Amino acid sequence: MNIIVTGGAGFIGSNFIFHMLGKYPDDRIICIDKLTYAGNLATLKDVMDCPNFKFYKADICDKEAVNQIFENEKPDIVVNFAAESHVDRSIENPQVFLETNIIGTSVLMDACRKYGIKRYHQVSTDEVYGDLPLDRPDLFFTEETPIHTSSPYSSSKAGADLLVLAYYRTYGLPVTISRCSNNYGPYHFPEKLIPLMVINALHDKPLPVYGEGINVRDWLYVEDHCKAIDLIIHNGRVGEVYNVGGHNEMRNIDIVKLICKELNKPESLITYVTDRKGHDMRYAIDPTKIHNELGWLPETKFADGIRKTIQWYLDHEDWWQPIVSGEYQEYYEKMYGNR
Ligand code: NAD
Ligand code: DAU
Repeated sequence: MNIIVTGGAGFIGSNFIFHMLGKYPDDRIICIDKLTYAGNLATLKDVMDCPNFKFYKADICDKEAVNQIFENEKPDIVVNFAAESHVDRSIENPQVFLETNIIGTSVLMDACRKYGIKRYHQVSTDEVYGDLPLDRPDLFFTEETPIHTSSPYSSSKAGADLLVLAYYRTYGLPVTISRCSNNYGPYHFPEKLIPLMVINALHDKPLPVYGEGINVRDWLYVEDHCKAIDLIIHNGRVGEVYNVGGHNEMRNIDIVKLICKELNKPESLITYVTDRKGHDMRYAIDPTKIHNELGWLPETKFADGIRKTIQWYLDHEDWWQPIVSGEYQEYYEKMYGNR
């Protein structure tokens, strides 16, 4: 099978490519990535020369480029990871989120209609459901929870999801959608909570916790997310949404304290800073559907996954150092300088 993976030079897309190349040596993986600030070819260096891997630098909003790639590669399956993914950036500049996350999705699906595919899979997020209150631990997001977004990022992802379901109903495009909780693991871009705190702690820099640090996220090791997508594209029912999450809710402050402990750094590095605008309080996924229908269960426990992840950052300074010493410094100053 020929499988197009968009956004494969980013965090989850690259982990998905490694998973697929390892598990299905007879499939071809074709990666399309624009290489924005979040895309990094160094991440893919070990697979670049694989005979069953091909990389195209292209924007998913560029209809001509996308159609040309479909013409060349005749994909059977398309898995769309390509997105602007950082909530804080979406608050600063929503426009590019609408372009990539919504227009890009429509360009890809139009190419799927034109050339014919067996499956289009949209990688979405639990953030489309909005948030849950902290004092109702009995509530979880199911696939029936209404879409109720908070940020330009989550709104753009929700817009894309609606478009995907519309292409299924209107054109009969064979689609599936996964809505996953917060991922962590190797190759996570340093703007996000866990890698940012690890790298700052290693430099003895302040650890900027938003608000009171009591917001809750439901953390899943990235490999478990990749395995869920693998199951959905092969065995998931067309037209369906699958929630993905491992019932691993943690408060931000507890994660940051754990990172301090693992790295033997003092908690006095923790600095409370101005909260994120519109900050979602709690995310919590009910994964019953994917478990019952496809037998998916998370395999990596948080205690093991976080240790593996911290060790990965300790062992791969060559990966993150060029990132944090480049334009990231300007970003960091802008977002955290006067916070
Ligand atoms: P990321 O920011 O690390 O990577 C995004 C990748 O997409 C980058 O390689 C970037 O260059 C590429 N890209 C951006 N715009 C593009 C465009 N116009 N054309 C082609 N490529 C483009 O993101 P991530 O954390 O790996 O997230 C991947 C997907 O998973 C996103 O759709 C995100 O919404 C979703 N998701 C992420 C999480 C998480 O915790 N990170 C959880 C659930 C869902
Ligand atoms: O839930 C899935 C989503 O998880 C994905 O759809 C997004 O692409 C992904 O970025 C992630 O969104 P979050 O906003 O939850 O992740 P982030 O790492 O930005 O923040 C996690 C929590 O930590 C959030 O409550 C904000 C807080 N935070 C974050 C940063 C970067 C801080 O307190 N300080 C920080 O410096």
